Formats: sequence, C-alpha cells, structure tokens
Amino acid sequence: MSDKTTRQAQILEERYGMGHEPKDIIWNDQIEHMMSHRSVRRYLPDALPDGALETMVAAAQSASTSSNLHMWSVIAVTDPEMKSELYRTSGHGNPFIEVAPVFLLWVADQSRNNRISKANGGSAIVHDHLDAFVMATIDAALAAQNAALAAESLGLGTVYIGGMRNKSKEVADLLGLPDYAYVTFGMVVGYPAPEAQGRLRPRPSQDVVLHQNRYEADRASRIAAYEEPFKHFREDLCMKEKTFVGAVSSSANDLLSMDGRENLRSTVEGRGFKLR
Ligand SMILES: Cc1cc2nc3c(=O)[nH]c(=O)nc-3n(C[C@H](O)[C@H](O)[C@H](O)COP(=O)(O)O)c2cc1C
Repeated sequence: MSDKTTRQAQILEERYGMGHEPKDIIWNDQIEHMMSHRSVRRYLPDALPDGALETMVAAAQSASTSSNLHMWSVIAVTDPEMKSELYRTSGHGNPFIEVAPVFLLWVADQSRNNRISKANGGSAIVHDHLDAFVMATIDAALAAQNAALAAESLGLGTVYIGGMRNKSKEVADLLGLPDYAYVTFGMVVGYPAPEAQGRLRPRPSQDVVLHQNRYEADRASRIAAYEEPFKHFREDLCMKEKTFVGAVSSSANDLLSMDGRENLRSTVEGRGFKLR
C-alpha cells in the first residue's frame, strides 16, 4: 500500500469505525481534504497569514447563493475586547474564541437587499416571509462552509460556534447589525496548537443518512451500530461517558441545553424578520 492509500484507509476507518466504511470512495486531493475535517478547539495566538481572510472570503463568495442574491455577510473580529465580549455571550464552553486571532461572525443578511428594494420604490414584502429568513440562513451556511474548507486547506483550523445565538439580541447589538440580519453562528479561525491533533470524529454509517428514491422511515434502528465508534472516540479523548442516543435525547429533551436559543424567534422577529 502506498502512503496515500494507507492514509485514505485510515481516514475512512476513523470517520466511520472499522467495518462500517463505505466502499468505492473515489479519492482525489479535494475529497481527501474534505474528509480530513475536524473541529479545532486549541489554537496558537499567531496571526493568520497575509491573504488568508481574503482567500476564505473568495471561497465563501464562490459558494452557490439562492438566485444570486448574496444574502449573507461576515464580520471578522480581531479586536481582543470584542472577542471577549462575544465569548461572554456564548456561555463559557468556548474559551478558544479569545485565544485564536480571528473570530468570524456569519450573518444571514437580508438587510442589504431590503434597503436596495425599498430605495428602488418597492415594499420588500417578500422579506416578511419565512422563506426570506431561510434563504439567508442557507446562504450564510454555504458560504461559511466553503470558507472553512479553504482555511483548512491553508493549514488553519476552524470551529463553528452555535453559541453565538445564545444571546442573539446582545450579539446583534454589539456588532451593530441592521434589521433583517442576525448572526447564524460564529467561526473561530487560527493555527491549531500542536496538542490539537487527534483523530477524526466518527459519523454514522451511510445507510443512516443516504436514502434511495424515497425516505425510509426505519433508519433509527441502524443508529445502534454508531454507538461503538461514538464510544471509542470519546474514550480516546477522555471525554465524559455518553451514548449517542443519550446525547441526542438530552439535546432534544432538555430545554436548558438551548442556553438562551429558545428566545431566538423573538430576537429574529425583533430584528425585522416577520416569518410569515
Ligand atoms: C452550526 C454549528 C455550531 C457549532 N457550535 C459549536 C460550539 O458552539 N462549540 C464547539 O465546540 N463546537 C461547535 N460546533 C462543532 C461541532 O460540535 C462539530 O462539528 C461536531 O461535533 C463534529 O465534529 P467535527 O467537526 O470535529 O467533525 C458547531 C458546529 C456547527 C455546524
């Protein structure tokens, strides 16, 4: 086996657990790069290389965008005080926000198009509908993921921060967001600290997520096989003992796990979105 083939076999084994790897993966450098993703939670404070931010934004802007309407913005926060304020709003589970040099806030942003439409004499009635909110959220997520892949290809690490919706109104105020815009999530970017290396986080086998032609409702039973790689990963990282079913259940059943995100609807409505 060549080094490359060995590495690819290792990626698949880490990603799915031994015996659960999909067959017939067509490998190339891009696929290998995407499948090597892992969230990084330990960073060096070193600045990003020149051009890294611009490269990430170019990758983000190259993502598909609904009807070519570009319904997103990104705010690059480098000011330590601002990072600390944002970290504070996210609870205290993500201290690396303060360590890494850049914290990106991905904004689902209808404000630009709302202004353009109204300045052009329109009512922008479409922006009062739920779909306008969904479109902007999708656009922001697609752009962000392209940026994350670009950063990783440059040897940088990233981690999304959903906790930016915990105190969504406060975050919007801190950043001076206009109406028709809200922060979907943050993204920490920086050089991974040497101790941040580790295995890839496993995923459920493909038959859990891949359906052919029609949705097959009994997929939940196939989740059982995921418990083993899920457990091994947590053991390797000395994480608290937990099953996947337990993790899903507490995330669904315990409102406390929302950490303020249960108020998102009122924040979003307060920001002008009417969600009709
Ligand atoms: C929208 C979104 C929000 C996330 N929020 C957080 C977060 O607040 N803190 C964190 O440590 N990881 C966060 N993550 C990272 C996930 O926990 C991570 O992607 C998942 O556990 C899979 O691990 P991997 O990315 O290393 O493969 C978030 C991921 C996404 C997509």
